[in-house]
Amino acid sequence: MQVPIWDTLIRHANVARLHADLPGYGELMDAAVAIKDGKIVWLGVDADLPASVEAQDEIDMVGKWITPGLIDCHTHIVHGGRRSNEFEARLNGISYEEIARSGGGILSSVRATRAASESELLAQSLPRVKSLLAEGVTTLEIKSGYGLDLASEAKMLKVARQIAELLPVNVKTTFLGAHALPPEFAGRADDYIEHLCVEMLPALVQLGLVDAVDAFCERIGFSRAQTEKLFTAARQHGLPVKLHAEQLSDQDGSALVAQFQGLSADHLEYLSPSGITAMAANHTVAVLLPAAYYFLRETKLPPIAELRAANVPIALATDCNPGTAPITSLLLVLNMACTLFKMTPQEALRGVTCYGAQALGMQDVGSLNVGMHADLALWEIERPADLAYAMGFNPCLGVWKDGRWLAR
Ligand code: NIG
Ligand code: FE
Repeated sequence: MQVPIWDTLIRHANVARLHADLPGYGELMDAAVAIKDGKIVWLGVDADLPASVEAQDEIDMVGKWITPGLIDCHTHIVHGGRRSNEFEARLNGISYEEIARSGGGILSSVRATRAASESELLAQSLPRVKSLLAEGVTTLEIKSGYGLDLASEAKMLKVARQIAELLPVNVKTTFLGAHALPPEFAGRADDYIEHLCVEMLPALVQLGLVDAVDAFCERIGFSRAQTEKLFTAARQHGLPVKLHAEQLSDQDGSALVAQFQGLSADHLEYLSPSGITAMAANHTVAVLLPAAYYFLRETKLPPIAELRAANVPIALATDCNPGTAPITSLLLVLNMACTLFKMTPQEALRGVTCYGAQALGMQDVGSLNVGMHADLALWEIERPADLAYAMGFNPCLGVWKDGRWLAR
């Protein structure tokens, strides 16, 4: 019988498989992982390896831990400029909503993003992405939403696609044209939504720049009816939807996105019981964003216990953006989820692996199993809880991206 020749055989590592259908971390101690053609082809306890195996590259990782490459399923990481002036203003007593209503907030980032050339936008965004990748992230969602006109939204999404070409990371793009009302449409929100549905979305889809559609359903964003119209257009293009929902107030957006079998409802501090029921019935993931909660000094917690009780999968993400979450550390988000939201380290890690994948509609990343994509992160830790425990310390030794080793 011919012996299969693997590309890489990793031996004696502890592996946290993080399948949604395995309890806890899905740990296998003293395990082996074999990779061929960018896929996992064997995974099990090292002692169970077939007697005669061959690999071009065999590495001993005794005592180290392997997890799936981490997934940051909600970011606005491509944006122009910074907003520390607004951070300072909020600390002098002005609220986030007041800043937004007076033309700052999202619209100040729109001005900076419009003013930046594509290469400037890329140059500003790359260091942020690199900071995430240094902590074992191998899959990233990137939203538009600071352009709000066709050329500028296209520019943002092209930069997102370029990031996937330049760096070892899978990128999913999300069209967030309904993030705020651009000045050209002041007082004409319905017309803007119509413009998104009829002009902008079809043009961006034509350019191959859109993997999903999102909106900001909020008092300072768009109404439920406007969001529904956009989701109907997304459905006509066969695109999945997700929603910034219940961040500052309850608009019943979660039930709406669930009705559209949406991938996720995100933020959710003001989520109601009926929203939870709708999400559970439609397998819509709850994406919690503790860094935005922290940075806005929010005090209303998302209903974690109720989400747990309803078996709604909970994902976690950075929400990296210049206004509410200027953060480029997913590990710090794990810690915040535990300290601020009282999630367990297990729940937190599942939130940036298997459930993060589910929030992006991806089946081949986010957990470790034969047939899955070989996106793995290698850690110098004693146990998986270390990833949520330390603050500001990075124990990532490197990743295998598509089966290729990249040291950190
Ligand atoms: O996810 N809530 C809407 N969007 C962003 C914040 C945008 C901004 O302030 O620039 C968020 O928190
Ligand atoms: Fe966001």
